[in-house]
Amino acid sequence: MKNFIYDIGTKIYFGKDQIKNIGDIVQSYGKKALLIYGGGSIKTNGIYDAALTYLKQKNITVEELSGVEPNPRIETVRKGVTLCKENQIEVIVPIGGGSVIDCAKVIAAGAFYEGDAWDLVLDPKKITHALPIISVLTLSATGSEMDTFAVISDMKQKEKIGTGHPLLRPKASILDPTYTQSVSKYQTAAGTADIMSHIMETYFSNKKGFMQDRIAEALLKTCITYGKKAYENPDDYEARSNLMWASSWAINDFIKLGKEEAWTVHPMEHELSAYYDITHGVGLAILTPHYFEFILDNTTVDKFCEFAHNVWEIPYEEDKYQMAQKGIDALKEFFEKLHIPKTLKEVGISEEYFDEMAQKASSRLKGAYRELTKEEVKQIYQRAL
Ligand code: NZQ
Ligand code: ZN
Repeated sequence: MKNFIYDIGTKIYFGKDQIKNIGDIVQSYGKKALLIYGGGSIKTNGIYDAALTYLKQKNITVEELSGVEPNPRIETVRKGVTLCKENQIEVIVPIGGGSVIDCAKVIAAGAFYEGDAWDLVLDPKKITHALPIISVLTLSATGSEMDTFAVISDMKQKEKIGTGHPLLRPKASILDPTYTQSVSKYQTAAGTADIMSHIMETYFSNKKGFMQDRIAEALLKTCITYGKKAYENPDDYEARSNLMWASSWAINDFIKLGKEEAWTVHPMEHELSAYYDITHGVGLAILTPHYFEFILDNTTVDKFCEFAHNVWEIPYEEDKYQMAQKGIDALKEFFEKLHIPKTLKEVGISEEYFDEMAQKASSRLKGAYRELTKEEVKQIYQRAL
């Protein structure tokens, strides 16, 4: 195991009605808040009204930034930075999914930065200060509620880039599973695939971490059991709870520390979203089985057998390759049960930009489980077409 420092500094308020604490939490950081949200789901399901009520009870002044896009745009980040600077904002309160929280993170850092916020996306070392972030999660997927990352898009340049800094980790996050009961089946499926991908990106590593991998397997099994239940019955509180907590633990560093490596499928998917604005989790679910089949060889087969046995309960057999393939097939079948599209064509992607997308993705794979060349990434895109 590699050396590491464990410091996951997000206080979690988990469960029904935890929103009632938001006034007290925000108050402990300041009196002027910027409330950030997306296209309006929080207004239809009542979270907006509840949050405002509790914030007003503590005399918090609230400015608002609405309309954060799925795959949040740098233009929206810039608007938020201006609002912070003009109104001397002291606390940032994103309420939404990963897009809203990610947007809020770069706004929080941008509030202290003199130049253009895009600089902070390109170079996290430029992040030196950030406003405190208190997030309210409404979609179980990215883990942004408990991690240090933010992914922002500049659609004009066809760029989608991840940045990250310890200062961007929310100080507190409210995780009320009932808030995710209004999430559509499509987003529930995509979110489940995203959580699983975060776990698998860490699980398939050249570094050893026995304990981390056993926890990773338990988290994957949680997604398999409860992702399907939440998909079939959106109001299943137990399913929504398990999915929500798994989303945070998949990427809050715990299963990564000691065996950290660069990720592979995420950089490949981010190019799909950058060029075609598709749903992140769907892109991951389409690419992952093809990536796995592509890298299955003598050096990886044992790990795939471990995955097949410990996650999918496939019995050990003499032919390791056959067993490894059964694990990959089980993953495919699971995504099928969630009705996630299986091909890039189904989500409107053609070969047109494969060359430049593969070039960009491969340049971000240094230090990954498999450092794929541009040609290899292109082959994976082609297999997924
Ligand atoms: O905008 P609203 O109206 O809120 O609707 C959203 C949006 O249309 C809707 N939604 C959210 N909560 C809802 C709801 N609808 C009904 N009821 C609710 N309770 O769902 C749609 C998608 O929301 P979005 O926030 O875009 O989804 P997600 O949480 O999957 O976030 C995706 C973004 O996060 C990035 C992705 O690349 C993508 O840009 N990622 C962030 C990461 C991180 N910070 O660590 C890591 C991930 O790997 C990922 O890259
Ligand atoms: Zn992801």
